[in-house]
Amino acid sequence: MARKYFFLHYNKLLLTFLTSSFLGIQGVPENALVTQIPGFNGTFQSKHYAGYVNIDESHGKKLYYYFVESERNPSKDPVVLWLNGGPGCSSFDGFVYEHGPFNFELGKPSGSLPSLHNNPYSWSKVSSVIYLDSPVGVGFSYSGNKSDYVTGDLKTASDTHAFLLKWFEIYPEFLKNPFYISGESYAGIYVPTLAYEVAQGIDAGVTPAINFKGYMVGNGVADDKIDGNALVPFQHGMGLISDELYEEVTVACNGNFYEPASNNCTEKLYKVDQEVNELNMYDILEPCYHSKEPSVITTVNSRLPMSFRKLGETERPLPVRKRMFGRAWPFKAPVREGRVPTWPELLNGLEVPCTDDRVATAWLNNEDVRKAIHAEQTTVTGPWELCTGKISLSHDSGSMIKYHKNLTAQGYRALIYSGDHDMCVPFTGSEKWTRSLGYPIVDEWRPWHVNGQVAGYIQGYDNNLIFLTIKGAGHTVPEYKPREALAFYTRWLEGKNI
Ligand SMILES: *[C@@H]1O[C@H](CO)[C@@H](O)[C@H](O)[C@H]1NC(C)=O
Ligand SMILES: *[C@@H]1O[C@H](CO)[C@@H](O)[C@H](O)[C@H]1NC(C)=O
Ligand SMILES: *[C@@H]1O[C@H](CO)[C@@H](O)[C@H](O)[C@H]1NC(C)=O
Ligand SMILES: *[C@@H]1O[C@H](CO)[C@@H](O)[C@H](O)[C@H]1NC(C)=O
Repeated sequence: MARKYFFLHYNKLLLTFLTSSFLGIQGVPENALVTQIPGFNGTFQSKHYAGYVNIDESHGKKLYYYFVESERNPSKDPVVLWLNGGPGCSSFDGFVYEHGPFNFELGKPSGSLPSLHNNPYSWSKVSSVIYLDSPVGVGFSYSGNKSDYVTGDLKTASDTHAFLLKWFEIYPEFLKNPFYISGESYAGIYVPTLAYEVAQGIDAGVTPAINFKGYMVGNGVADDKIDGNALVPFQHGMGLISDELYEEVTVACNGNFYEPASNNCTEKLYKVDQEVNELNMYDILEPCYHSKEPSVITTVNSRLPMSFRKLGETERPLPVRKRMFGRAWPFKAPVREGRVPTWPELLNGLEVPCTDDRVATAWLNNEDVRKAIHAEQTTVTGPWELCTGKISLSHDSGSMIKYHKNLTAQGYRALIYSGDHDMCVPFTGSEKWTRSLGYPIVDEWRPWHVNGQVAGYIQGYDNNLIFLTIKGAGHTVPEYKPREALAFYTRWLEGKNI
């Protein structure tokens, strides 16, 4: 018995020694294992790991990740990196509100510890997911040298690539799994720029060799001009502005809404804004959450007609946030080349309207939660914020079209999906730029289904490029349509028809 114990112990020591000395890593996965989570009494459906990867020892530049193993077959299922946008938004947005392993219920009183339940539509049902706080300065990621908080798209991509190489050194057992990169909103920039870095690394023989297969972008920005010009047609098509105003603004702006060339155009655009500015821009079907009111608007006290309430309902047992902010900039400040203004700047110090991020804020600023998920305490990282104004990010990668062309031409698979009721990055832009790549259509525009119901529309192109809409979903698709989101996610990852 003693010898056997010694043998096991010795192996463990040897493994620790090998991992830490040969790979230069401080924390081995064993130390990263998350064993309990305050607020959750249930059973973990798979293994969870979390911690920091130091990508620059001299600066102490540490990126935080939370890794959820697949609940099905972690040794075979794909590994998917998830990135939220902003810029400046934490990927706990995705973890808490979209497709993470738990559903969160607001604690009572507000601000106390939330209750967590297993999420039946977690993306960990069919894949292992890495939630990464990026770039450094966002969420729990931080640096010992504040100069790292001044960054850009390209630097972010190379930093995230450095993170991935180190991450796979810590988790070598996942190197053989198919690997995908995914994200939303401003991650429409992060995903293709990172995918390009990873693809170039593979071509250059960088090790460890990542088994990169493709990428996925939800309601993502891609091209300043195309996205910028897609908004007014969306507003018209959705019945938010009249035929008359649509005709007037089109004439006054000569169809160019992105760069108003005359006062007449600016004036008409202002009128358009007036018509839509009370709407929840992240989902035009959803009511606006008013923070002065202590409780969320429920179907009971909503003044919306029943048909609208039904449209806004999701299968999540818990209330959807009534409005979020920070997934992209407001449409009055579209993506442009150069420094992207931070949220505090854009809002001019005003209170953010319609925002409810209480559950994530309460949970992630609880010191016991931080300890349990291996995040530093508040004294080190500052308070957790859904979207931070701490970083300064320059949009220095231009249009994404050249990246999508290069990646799809190299054989990487791409799924561009869009909640069709998002007014922040509307589907009209994504539909247009995917078409503009000029690939032959191989799967002509058709409905796709979940449980015998139309869940949205799909158009498949050559080179494994797919454009997909999710009917009735807003900016953060899995938050509004978790069942449909898990369905297309699963089918796409498995290479099946959606
Ligand atoms: C977890 O268990 C504690 C103690 O039994 C209880 O007070 C709490 O309400 C439970 N939380 C949930 C989410 O079930
Ligand atoms: C932070 O990093 C910059 C760039 O590497 C360097 O010039 C500067 O001296 C560093 N500051 C500190 C306080 O270490
Ligand atoms: C702007 O609108 C005014 C009044 O409708 C019109 O007279 C004028 O020609 C317009 N200017 C331009 C540059 O279109
Ligand atoms: C993609 O970009 C790389 C690096 O610039 C280049 O070497 C390669 O030829 C491009 N591939 C395609 C298919 O355009």
